[in-house]
Amino acid sequence: MASTHRIAVIPGDGIGQEVCPPAREVLDAVGARHDVTFSYREFDWSCARYQREGAMMPEDGLDQLRPFDAIFLGAVGAPGVPDHISLWGLLIPIRRGFRQYVNLRPIKVFEGVPSPLRTATAGEVDLVVVRENVEGEYSEVGGRYGRGFPEEMAIQEAVFTRAGITRIADYAFELATRRAGQLTSATKSNGIVHTMPFWDQVVTERAAAYPTVSWNAEHIDALAAKLVLDPARFDVIVASNLFGDILSDLAAALAGSIGMAPAANINPEREFPSMFEPVHGSAPDIAGRGVANPIGAIWTAAMMLEHLGHPAAAAEVTAAIAGVLAKTDIRTPDLGGSATTTEFTTAVLQFLGA
Ligand code: NAI
Ligand code: MG
Repeated sequence: MASTHRIAVIPGDGIGQEVCPPAREVLDAVGARHDVTFSYREFDWSCARYQREGAMMPEDGLDQLRPFDAIFLGAVGAPGVPDHISLWGLLIPIRRGFRQYVNLRPIKVFEGVPSPLRTATAGEVDLVVVRENVEGEYSEVGGRYGRGFPEEMAIQEAVFTRAGITRIADYAFELATRRAGQLTSATKSNGIVHTMPFWDQVVTERAAAYPTVSWNAEHIDALAAKLVLDPARFDVIVASNLFGDILSDLAAALAGSIGMAPAANINPEREFPSMFEPVHGSAPDIAGRGVANPIGAIWTAAMMLEHLGHPAAAAEVTAAIAGVLAKTDIRTPDLGGSATTTEFTTAVLQFLGA
């Protein structure tokens, strides 16, 4: 059945501008094969806008995004604009305002892309980090006291709610039932004595509802080490906002390059549009040269297809990425090659039969 989706595109800054067009080309190509069309509207919300107009996005930004079926974001961040401004002025208001409480980050080692780890091989490393995305350590509760005086201090409160832990645990257990049936919960209940034991307690309570999933809790420090020593052991990892952020960058690096890692900010109830963005940032060190790796953005587009109800089209896109990596030596410089963003994208389009 023909369908059409309205997509809000926020390319942002730096290589965000360079990886969005490849993602759109791939979406259009695979969509044409599946009778799916996309109507895009681009927004110039970015650090460049902040420098021009004093705000990352307009005051009614969320209202403008609400009618869309999904949001596709490149990356934001620019030298000269403090990172907390770009994050709290755009990404965090969207994630929180649209209750995108799941941040989903799959990691795979592909044939043809050597991992920096001897032990990580294609077909074996295939895991997903489910990061709590709206509460936890990234909270606005706290403040600064005695500015400028010797006793100056800062207090930052972590906020963990029963509702928040329950829904992220349920999402992760549910996902594990559809994958290898194995879940690891990241904790630190030995050192962080209030919030983390609470996290463990609620995850344990939820586990009872998923008898087919085998699960365990591991302290974040040991878990980070095990992810390096034996990445093939993991299937679904559920973690708080901060732990999930750090673990998913670590895991992305294991897979060869952070430029390959996709992510989705999901509102599972579909009350609001979900937002799809590669894990990487705006990469000012390589921006403007046309050499950014588009895999992260293209794989992210596949996650968006899946969310919009087109799993077959999504699978074709990930198979096309895997095909280019396994069957050709076309690589962008972050993977040791000399291909441009456009050359790699063209190869993906060819594999798609576009
Ligand atoms: P980054 O991800 O932009 O870059 C880290 C390193 O990886 C750089 O050497 C970069 O060249 C390389 N890299 C990243 N993506 C690549 C790609 N697609 N192809 C090839 N190489 C790639 O992280 P960094 O340098 O910490 O942050 C730069 C800016 O991006 C900052 O302003 C930061 O706040 C922002 N940022 C934004 C995010 C977002 O919009 N979601 C996420 C992370 C950072
Ligand atoms: Mg991060």
